[in-house]
Amino acid sequence: AAAGPLAGRKVVVTAGGTVERIDPVRYISNDSSGKMGFALARAAQAMGAEVTLVAARTDEAPPQNPGIKVIRVQSAQEMYEAVTGVWDGCDMLIKAAAVADYRPKEAAPSKLKKSGDTMTLELIKTKDILETLGSTKQQQLLIGFAAETGGAEAYAREKLARKNCDLIVANDVGTPGAGFGLDTNIVSIYDKDGLVLELPLLSKDEVAKQLLTLAVKRLPGAE
Ligand code: PMT
Repeated sequence: AAAGPLAGRKVVVTAGGTVERIDPVRYISNDSSGKMGFALARAAQAMGAEVTLVAARTDEAPPQNPGIKVIRVQSAQEMYEAVTGVWDGCDMLIKAAAVADYRPKEAAPSKLKKSGDTMTLELIKTKDILETLGSTKQQQLLIGFAAETGGAEAYAREKLARKNCDLIVANDVGTPGAGFGLDTNIVSIYDKDGLVLELPLLSKDEVAKQLLTLAVKRLPGAE
C-alpha cells in the first residue's frame, strides 16, 4: 500500500479548460493548459493518495502514472457528470479546471456557413460544478480556485462562501508569473476566516505541494 500523509485517501483533481461546441469544428474554451491540475494530481499521488484526475482540454497529455486514474471530458456538462460521479467516495476534491460559465445554447450539427456581416451566438449558463458539490458536501474537503484579474481576495472569498468550499486558492492571473499556461503561479489561500497562506512566485509543483500539505491537516480524521 502507498505510504505518505494521504495514504488511504481518495483525491479528485480537475484540470484544463472545458470545450463548449459551436459546431463540429469550432468551440469556446479558455487558456487553461492543465498544468496546475496536473501538478496537484502528481503531488497528491506522491503523498500516497489514490487520485482521479478529471481533465478537459489541456496543452499536454495528463500524467501517466498507475496511481492516477484519468477521466477525459470536453464540456462543462461532461465535467459535471464525471465529477459528481466520483464525489461521494472521495476525501478531497480540488477544482483547478477552468470551467465555462456559459455555453452556446445549441451546438450546430454541421459546420456553420459564413453569411451576414454580423453573427449572434446565444449562450446559456452552465451548471456550477463547485456550487453543486458545496451544497451536497458531507465529509469531503472541498477546494476551489479563483482566477481573477484584480480584486482577487474579495472575489475569491465571495466564491468560497457561495460555493461552500473549505479552502479557495486565489490567483491574480493579471500578475506576471501567475495563472494560465505557465509553469509558475502566485497564489493566496483563504478559508472562511480569511487568509491562511500567501505564497510567492513558485513552480506549480511547489504550489501543489504547499496546498496539499495545508489541506491534509484539515481532512476529517486528521490529527
Ligand atoms: O491550467 P493552467 O494553465 O495551469 O492554469 C491554472 C488556472 C489559472 C486555470 C488555475 O490555477 C485556476 O485558477 N483555475 C480556476 C479557473 C476558474 O475557472 O476560475 P473561476 O473563478 O471562473 O471559477 C471558480 C471555481 O469554480 C473554480 O474552481 C472552477 O473550477 C469552479 N467552477 C466554475 C464554473 C463552473 N461552471 N463550475 C465550476 O466548478
